[in-house]
Amino acid sequence: MSEEKHQPEWNETITRWYCDNYSEWPSNEFVVEAADLKPDSCVLDIGCGGGQALRLASAVVTTGRLVGVEPTPLMLQFAKEHKDNVASIEYLSGAAESLPLANASVDIAWAVNTLHHWRDVAGGLAEAARVVRPGGRLILAEDADVTDRSALSDEALRSALERAGFTDFHVVPTQRGDVLCYLYQCRRLLR
Ligand SMILES: C[S@@+](CC[C@H](N)C(=O)[O-])C[C@H]1O[C@@H](n2cnc3c(N)ncnc32)[C@H](O)[C@@H]1O
Repeated sequence: MSEEKHQPEWNETITRWYCDNYSEWPSNEFVVEAADLKPDSCVLDIGCGGGQALRLASAVVTTGRLVGVEPTPLMLQFAKEHKDNVASIEYLSGAAESLPLANASVDIAWAVNTLHHWRDVAGGLAEAARVVRPGGRLILAEDADVTDRSALSDEALRSALERAGFTDFHVVPTQRGDVLCYLYQCRRLLR
């Protein structure tokens, strides 16, 4: 993955531009639809941005836990202050490489269009494997126009996920209108 190419600095200008233009985006819906959520699911959104996926998930997850982790303070503030926010969503400061959650504490983790921003992909996947319970799921969603799939091949990602402790890797291309998103899905090993 070309980190240099996809490593914008999340300064105030970029964060406000992103929130104004992309905080409601179909890929968040794709992930929530693919997640097979239950009312008591414990969900982690890694790099939750403005929190759209968690707000969508809150329609189903009523007794479980919804946690968003986000490293950019202004983005976290935007998420917390969103007019459609739900009080039960927990927004925590943190990054993929150092998740502020206990071991095996979530049923499903997802990351929507953030993988290409992680500074340490192997470290982030290891952290995801630490916090997802055995048998739980991870979905990495990446839009076709932000991810260089020749730089991060499916096989390279499968290998990285397997090294981190995930299995059952498969890719589900999902499209609505002009938006094509790849849902990289896998499951935490049972042992
Ligand atoms: C393109 S936005 C996507 C936000 C949200 N997931 C969405 O789909 O609306 C990328 C987000 O990744 C966050 N980010 C950057 N580096 C990160 C890291 N190392 N770990 C987790 N999130 C990160 C940014 O702060 C930003 O909120």
